Amino acid sequence: MLNIVIFGAPGSGKGTQSARIVEKYGLNHISTGDVLRAEIKNGTELGKTAKGYIDNGQLIPDALMIDILASVFDSLKDSKGVIFDGFPRTIAQADALKAMLKERGQEVSVMLDLEVPEDELMTRLIKRGQESGRADDNEETIKKRLVVYHSQTAPLIDWYKKDGTYRHINGLGTMDGIFADICKAIENI
Ligand code: AP5
Repeated sequence: MLNIVIFGAPGSGKGTQSARIVEKYGLNHISTGDVLRAEIKNGTELGKTAKGYIDNGQLIPDALMIDILASVFDSLKDSKGVIFDGFPRTIAQADALKAMLKERGQEVSVMLDLEVPEDELMTRLIKRGQESGRADDNEETIKKRLVVYHSQTAPLIDWYKKDGTYRHINGLGTMDGIFADICKAIENI
């Protein structure tokens, strides 16, 4: 099983690179952001709850998010492994993911940290918001998302360094160049 955590600030390229990894390595992709946006689109109770947090640039509470992740994970069939995109985002979520995989005789194979300077993140997300209309891609909400990233999510870098699965990836450059670095990191596992 190849279980990959793809990690980085908002706009660092997690979704973009996940699509390439899925295509090359035949993994399942769990994007918690996509799961939540689908719930919002379908007007479910979960979607209504999630929208309040997402529109305000805040994280969905851990207990709820961990339940969602476990249920999506258990719905996967014939998996060669999973790429976790947008999860974990807190220490509690990282602990829960480790426990969930361990119960199933699995573990995280590698954590890929896409590092991108903040001015580039802002440029990418403002452009995406203009093109796609994604509700949380406006300057005010992006700033809140970045504050949340630094305070609640970035501490996971040390968590995964201690776990021994951390790999740094320079997320600035061409999409092909970044993907080549990711492939090297995966093939070195
Ligand atoms: P989520 O959807 O996970 O958003 P995010 O982490 O803010 O990440 P993005 O989707 O904005 O960026 P990305 O890193 O995937 O970059 P992308 O490839 O799209 O989460 C949204 C919200 O849901 C959260 O704020 C939170 O409220 C909630 N949530 C989700 N998971 C949660 C969890 N676990 N716990 C609690 N709450 C949770 O690229 C961005 C743009 O840049 C694109 O336009 C792309 O084309 C462009 N781009 C990509 N690579 C390059 C490159 N190399 N050069 C130039 N442009 C590039």
